[in-house]
Amino acid sequence: METQHPMTYGRITGWGGYVPPNVVTNRDLPEWLDTSDEWIVQRTGIRERRIAGPEETTATMCLAAARRALAQADLDPQELDLILVATSTPDYHTPPVSSLVQSRLGASRAAAFTLVNGCTGWVYGLCTAYQFIHTGIYRKVLVVGAELLSRFVDWQDRSMCVLFGDAAGAVVVEATPEPCGLQGFVLGSDGDLSDLIIMPGCGSAHPCSPEVLARRDQYVRMNGREVFKFATRIIGPICHQAAARAGLELDAIDWIIPHQANLRIIQAAARQMGLPLERFVVNIDRYANTSAATIPLAFAEALDRGQAHPTQRFLFVTFGAGITWGAAVVQPWPTSGAASQEAVAQADGRVPTG
Ligand code: ACO
Repeated sequence: METQHPMTYGRITGWGGYVPPNVVTNRDLPEWLDTSDEWIVQRTGIRERRIAGPEETTATMCLAAARRALAQADLDPQELDLILVATSTPDYHTPPVSSLVQSRLGASRAAAFTLVNGCTGWVYGLCTAYQFIHTGIYRKVLVVGAELLSRFVDWQDRSMCVLFGDAAGAVVVEATPEPCGLQGFVLGSDGDLSDLIIMPGCGSAHPCSPEVLARRDQYVRMNGREVFKFATRIIGPICHQAAARAGLELDAIDWIIPHQANLRIIQAAARQMGLPLERFVVNIDRYANTSAATIPLAFAEALDRGQAHPTQRFLFVTFGAGITWGAAVVQPWPTSGAASQEAVAQADGRVPTG
């Protein structure tokens, strides 16, 4: 069986989520949109979502999540070697959000870059971070996934706007000689399907113009049915593949954290993999689809409320624009050693994310 062995391991020493305080429930929407709570819950499992306030941007949400992760890791931002931000809804086309985050954190030593990969961005980012850690090039890396989709969806399009929310999630990965961290992963892309999720206007193909804006092409569009079919086809096989690369059966995974796009996709994945839904971390009911933020946010929540423990094995699985996909088996902490035992005790006393 093919397995992936790093030279240096990476421990997830900090995690944090951020959601804007403003809650918009399904019941709020029919006041001005032709939809219903019943339709949204039955088709998606979503009950409410968070919408960023006018003073918030993707960078401010990244900062809030990053500060939580850094505080938990007890790390000064100046110690960071690298900052990765996954987002498709940046503050600006340029400069990259990662540089805004690097500057505002005061992480003056850190290199920084942004991954634009839709919902798979954070898993791609985490796997990238681990490559720098495994080769010994960098020792302390911050990986953020953040999305402010409420400013990129068409609020006149009921088939899209009910599906998304705003959020950020972050982890700190630090080099360690103790075996833990990324144990196996799969990343993929099929650009032949790129039209399935597309923001057609205001890029170099169709620069912003009155015509582009009149067609509302500045907003994200999705062929929901085809994405649904694709997702239910791919999740099972890539989970098996990532587990095999870690030298594991799926039974050895404690928690599956899937991309939160649709509860029915998660249920179908559980059925296909022969795993009970209780092994899946699900929060789509409260936050909707927050794209690159769904997995780090669900990860932080599961750990903070004591549902999951960092010495357990997690399988992150995602799909999104591109079309791209990814699955990664991660054990955040080693299972043995005095330092782990102390950290386990500390983690047990942690409080939920706000
Ligand atoms: N309220 C009420 N009715 C609605 C709404 C709404 N908000 N939206 C659509 N409808 C109607 C449609 O008009 C259609 O009516 P019609 O039959 O009279 O034409 C009917 O509901 C069915 O619409 P469908 O699009 O066929 O509904 P479906 O069951 O496929 O569910 C959904 C749509 C929820 C989008 C589903 O296809 C899905 O979740 N797809 C996967 C999306 C996903 O995973 N995206 C991840 C990537 S996103 C990213 O990367 C940014």
